[in-house]
Formats: sequence, structure tokens, C-alpha cells
Amino acid sequence: MSGNDEVVSEAQIAVHWREEELFYPPTRFVGQANASDPAILERFSEDNFPECFKEYGDLLEWDHYWHTTLDTSNPPFWKWFVGGKLNASYNCVDRHLKRDRNKAAIVWVPELEEDDTVILTYQELYQRVNEMAAMLRDFCGLKAGDRVTLHLPMVPELPITMLACARLGVVHSEVFAGFSGAACGGRIHDSGSRVLITIDGYYRNGELLDHKEKADEALAVAKSEGSEVEQVLVWRRNPGKYASNTPMVAGRDVFVDELLQSYKHQVVAPVSMPAEAPLFLMYTSGSTGKPKGCQHSTGGYLSYVTGTAKYYQDIHPEDTYWCLADIGWITGHSYIVYGPLSLGTTTVMYEGVPTYPDAGRVWRIAERLGVTIFHTAPTTIRMLRKLGPEEPKKYNYHFKHMTTVGEPIEPEVWRWYHDVVGKNEAVVVDTWWQTENGGFLGSTLPGIQPMKPGSCGPGVLGVFPVVLDEEGNEVEAGSGRAGNICIRNPWPGILQTIYGQPDRFVQVYYEKYCRDKNSKDWRDWPYFAGDGAMKAADGYFRILGRVDDVINVAGHRLGTKELESASLTVPEVAEAAAVPVIDEIRGRVVEMYVSLKPGLSPSKEISDKVAAAIEVEIGKIARPKNVWIVPDMPKTRSGKIMRRVIAGISNFTDPGDLTTLANAEVVEGIRHSVQSEKLAKGDVPRELSPQEVAEIQSYGHAD
Ligand code: WTA
Repeated sequence: MSGNDEVVSEAQIAVHWREEELFYPPTRFVGQANASDPAILERFSEDNFPECFKEYGDLLEWDHYWHTTLDTSNPPFWKWFVGGKLNASYNCVDRHLKRDRNKAAIVWVPELEEDDTVILTYQELYQRVNEMAAMLRDFCGLKAGDRVTLHLPMVPELPITMLACARLGVVHSEVFAGFSGAACGGRIHDSGSRVLITIDGYYRNGELLDHKEKADEALAVAKSEGSEVEQVLVWRRNPGKYASNTPMVAGRDVFVDELLQSYKHQVVAPVSMPAEAPLFLMYTSGSTGKPKGCQHSTGGYLSYVTGTAKYYQDIHPEDTYWCLADIGWITGHSYIVYGPLSLGTTTVMYEGVPTYPDAGRVWRIAERLGVTIFHTAPTTIRMLRKLGPEEPKKYNYHFKHMTTVGEPIEPEVWRWYHDVVGKNEAVVVDTWWQTENGGFLGSTLPGIQPMKPGSCGPGVLGVFPVVLDEEGNEVEAGSGRAGNICIRNPWPGILQTIYGQPDRFVQVYYEKYCRDKNSKDWRDWPYFAGDGAMKAADGYFRILGRVDDVINVAGHRLGTKELESASLTVPEVAEAAAVPVIDEIRGRVVEMYVSLKPGLSPSKEISDKVAAAIEVEIGKIARPKNVWIVPDMPKTRSGKIMRRVIAGISNFTDPGDLTTLANAEVVEGIRHSVQSEKLAKGDVPRELSPQEVAEIQSYGHAD
């Protein structure tokens, strides 16, 4: 570590990996793969960019064909399939009716094991989407371009509502159900929604949670920011039985199941939308300010998720595909709803917790439904491995294909996934991408490119990643050095903008490496992903994690600024800093450090208030593991909190050089009190890898 404030960026630190062995796909998989001829790599080579993406566009049905595949006239606001018109709901539902109306589109598994599985055929899905669309149009008066906020958990009503919106060209903005009412309220305001669609309750860990109460909180927050919601549509988890303790507000709240009776058998013609019309917003956390509303397009996005689901998930119409993510995240939008349904396959949704009521649940579902393709995140894999390492062997399921997404996966966890969950007979794809990207960016083509534990693989078809140093020079493949991973070219799934904040969009993703702001050549506009990565000699990327102030907890992006401002809503708190702590199961967890206003003394009550404030402002997923009240934060002479020092304390690593601190004397006291309490609780991290140590030691360099 260098001796001044301008520490070497995390991304530049040399990391020494053990190169992992390659795994080749089973012959049986290759024999049936959607992509088994390497000629596809040639078709999607840089020479054929951007026209190669015609192949993805052609997987959809268009009302009008496009005239320009990629329009780069206003960088970096790329436009794909310009002149084309289509409807996403039509492509995910109607077009399958002719051949497959009686086939299961969605299989929904409720959390309680004794409850019946719900199967929606394509015909039933069509009916329900149409009725809902009729209601949104006629009761709510919604029309193409309007935004609607959804705050729905993993129930079939969520994809039904999304597809009903898409049918009308209404832009849905789904907020993960685990987010708090306040977090939902902020997103309602930002998106300018005047309708909120929610549900009374849903099951988590065997308990029917009250969810409707969050709607009132959301509306209050939206109102305080200046947005009035006119209508709250409330689905009921069990139609006819209201499960929430919160009263319905007359004139504002309505039960969807009741109201739908008036729209029975109605059919709504799908609205033909321009390819560049927005399909949905999905909010995500970044390094500064409030969450960003990533705006995704209709034609580009839908083509991209359909193409990547076909070639990387290897979805065939006859597969039973199960992605265990939540639709409240981008993975669920792209790879539970839009990609699989566009390909006309059967997509499985599970309401609850993977380990409820025990660590065998997931494998029982897979066995019973005959799941062939399975998709989940490292956090879930680690948890299932810890709680039931022998469970998969007890069940007679056979996956041909498995995905991992959302966080770096440790090679030994990858091997358990491959050997035990996949029974050595499934291919594994490690898919690297982000909310902003619409679909995969880095992965292996499962029938063609071998797998390497811990590496996502090369750039996907038509996507050309590069690792750059701070000056914008390419970091050589195989150099053993890391840098910032960027994508050299636009691709159809990329976000169009940050909703309502085009300047922020340019600044966050393009400013750092743009070579010429006046250039209309896409080659001058590399996309900055915000992840550190290393490229091996064979062209495979190993993703190291975020280089900005985002902590990835169990695959969920939490902005440190959001955590810190939530803590500052507690009146006693003067200063707050969030740091990541390496965790065996969840990848990273959050610890908060706070200092109090003068004259106040630390108490458990105050630290509980900080944790509660974070739960209120963001949601339970963000709840810190510990809140440490310290007499003073370690600071530079210019008054900046040195987050790497407290991160080092929380992780039991060397906090690094302290000579630039204005108050180095506070460090030892903090270290002593924090670490002795952790030791007493047995809360000590496992031995960290050199790369993890480097991450902690350079944490917060962006300050
Ligand atoms: C991380 C989730 C390593 C990365 C689809 C990225 C990964 C952030 C991987 C985006 C992977 C995602 N290997 N890290 N396969 N996939 N990440 O927006 O840091 O919720 O920037 O999108 O997750 O998270 P997001």
C-alpha cells in the first residue's frame, strides 16, 4: 500500500491467482445445445458488429421491421432496431398460443409445502394478462408511456401485472418486495407514478407477512417528496381474504381480485410500440446520491434477453426452467419473465425461502417438476452447501444446465455446485452482468467454451470487454494485473438512460473513459461497469467486485451513501460510515460505524435505532451486522473519513498506513473495542485471500 491518501486503486492491485482447471461440457449436453457450432462466434465477431444482433432481433415477432440496427448519432444514447415496432407482451404470450396454448407458461410453487402448485398455461396467462390490461386501461386510465410502480413479491400476479403493463406500453417499475415502504416511496416519486400496485401479504419462512402496510408508508414518503398517488391496487394472496392489518383507504385502495370480475374475458389489443420505447425501469444503487432508475427499451432489451436466454441458458421450448432469483431484481425480469417466456418455455417461480422448511426443499421441487435448467446465486449455493451438503444426492432430479449470477463464486463453492448439485452431468455458466445491462455480459457459451471455476468467461456474443487502468490504457491479458472492466461497444440490452437524469447517465457510465465527447463513433465511448477484473491469458475474465462505493450483500447492491444517510436520520448520530465485512455465506455484509453528537454517550438503544433506521429507509436486507459507536472517526487532515481503516478493523486485516490521519490516536481504541467484542462473539472472518485483503485495504478510495 502506498504511503499517501491517493492509494493505488483497488482495481490496479496485482493479484496472484491460482489458475483453475478447465471443465468441458458433457457430450450429451453438446448434442442438444442451441449453440454447438463454433461458427456462431464468427457470426458475432467484431467485424460483424452491429449487424450480428439482427440474429437476436429476428427471434422476435415485429409489427414493423426495423431499418437501422444501431443508430449512434447521439452518443452515448444508443438506439437499437430503429424504425421497428413490436409489443413485448405479445411476444411473451400471444405468439405461443397457436402451438402451445395448453402448455405451462408459469409454474408457481407457494412456500407452504402443503399448498397446491399453481400452473398457468399460455392460454390462461393470456386471459389474465388481458383482463389486467383492460383494468389498468379502463379503471386506472393508464396509457403508453405512463409509469406505474409495482411492489410485489414472488406471486404469479407479478409477471401478470408486468405483462399487462407491457401490453399497453405502460412502463412498469417493480420494487423488490423486501425493500421498505420508504424505499418504495422514493422510487414512486422519482418515476412519477400515480398508481401503486401491491399485495396484502406473502409467505416468508412460513409466516404470512403484512405487506400492504408498506404501501401507506410508501405513499406518505412519496407525498413528502411531492408526488400524490391516486390509486393503490391491492392483490390478495388468497383472493377474497384480506390478510393485512392496515385498513383499505376508501376512494384510493381497491382489491384487484374483486375489480377484475368486471373485466372477465376482455381482450386488449397489444399496443404496437417503437423499439426504443421504454419497457420498464429498475432502480439500483450507485456510488452517489439516490438509487438510479435504469430505463430499459422494448426492442433492444427483449431481443437481448431472448438471444442470451437461448444461447447461454440453452432454453428450448420443452425445457422446465427454474431461476430462483426474485423478479424484484433484474435477474428475475430478464431470466424468469421476459427471456424464458419469449422463448415459449415453462418458467418456474418459487414464493419463498430456499431452505424452508429444510435444506432439501429446492431439490424436492426440482425432482417433482422435472426441472432441466437451474439458475441461482452464489449466496444461495453457499447456504445450501452449508446447511445440507448431502441433500442433493437424496433427490432424483437431473439438471442439464446450471447458472450462477450476482457475485463472484469461490472455486470450491463452484465445484460443489458442479459435482454435487449438478451431479457431474450439468454444464455451469457463471454469468457476469448488472441491472444496467439488461442481460449477460461475460459468460461461456455452454456447448462450445469450457468452464473455469471462479471466472465468468470471455465476453458474450457481440460484447467486447476490456480491462483498463486508471489512465485508460489496456491491461494486458495474462499480465496478472487487475483493472476496471469496461465494454468497448454498445449492445442491445444496455440501459437507455437513468430515468430523468441523462447527464448523470453520461457521467456515471461514460465520462471516465470517453476519448472524445464530440465523437459519434462508438469506439470512443467505452462503458464503465464499476467492477474490478482480471483477464487471463486465455481471455477469460475473473470479476473481483465493485470498485465504487457499493457493497454487494448476498447479490444485492447496497450504496454506502444510502446506508449512511439512513443512519443520519437518527437524531443522536453525527457521522456515519458503512464498511463491507467478508462473510462466509453472504459474500459481504455491512457494518456501520457511527459517532454521536457532543455530550451523548453510546448505548445499545442508539445502535439499535441505527439498525432500525436502515431497515425503515432501505429494507431488512440492508440491516447491518453490527453498529459500532465510536468516539471519533479516523479522518484525513481534510476531514474525510478513512473507510479503509475501519474496514480493516472489522475484517481483522492490517488497516494500512496511518500517517495521513489527522487523528491516528483514535484507531487503537476503536480496534480494541470492536475486535474484542467480535472475538467474544466468535465473529471472526475466515482467513482472507490476498485479493480480499486488497479489497478491504483499498476500500473507500473513491472518497
Ligand atoms: C456483481 C446482477 C462476479 C458485480 C445481475 C456487478 C458478479 C454487480 C457477477 C451487479 C458474477 C454480478 N461474478 N460478480 N457472475 N454477476 N456480479 O446490478 O459486482 O444486482 O457489478 O445485477 O454484481 O449487480 P446487479
